Amino acid sequence: MIAPCPISLTVNGEHVEALVAPRLNLADFLREQQHLTGTHVGCEHGVCGACTIRLNGDIVRGCLILAVQANGSAVETIEGLSDSGEINDLQAAFRERNALQCGYCTPGMLITAQDLLLQCSMPDRDRIREHLSGNYCRCTGYEAIVDAVEATARARMERGQ
Ligand code: FES
Ligand code: FES
Repeated sequence: MIAPCPISLTVNGEHVEALVAPRLNLADFLREQQHLTGTHVGCEHGVCGACTIRLNGDIVRGCLILAVQANGSAVETIEGLSDSGEINDLQAAFRERNALQCGYCTPGMLITAQDLLLQCSMPDRDRIREHLSGNYCRCTGYEAIVDAVEATARARMERGQ
């Protein structure tokens, strides 16, 4: 048996020290050891985007990164983005436009959409679709999701954000 490895990182701004199995991926670490179950796991192969999180400010697939690779990093999950209020308006827009049904894809979708809005204040619908193209949704048909992201971008522009 391979000995667990010590890691030290921040998760949603909190300092965390943990012992992890060398093969434990970051999504499972967050869910199983940090009890942050908003990070969903679908394909476990980097395809569906359900496990999207932010690592040092960039969006990544939590299932494709080992927890040991996150040593020394800043990890943010849907819980952190939600609790800080950073995506309150985006979450409200998703609710208002029925941009979620089962909700399985929604945490990853919100983090990816927020990543786009940080890069581009008023993306057109093609750009929204392209940026979200790695996040799969089996329920909504995407139209309402694109509507919600577009509406959030417009509202932020009007508020001067
Ligand atoms: S669970 Fe990570 S991309 Fe699907
Ligand atoms: S709302 Fe069900 S997978 Fe997207």
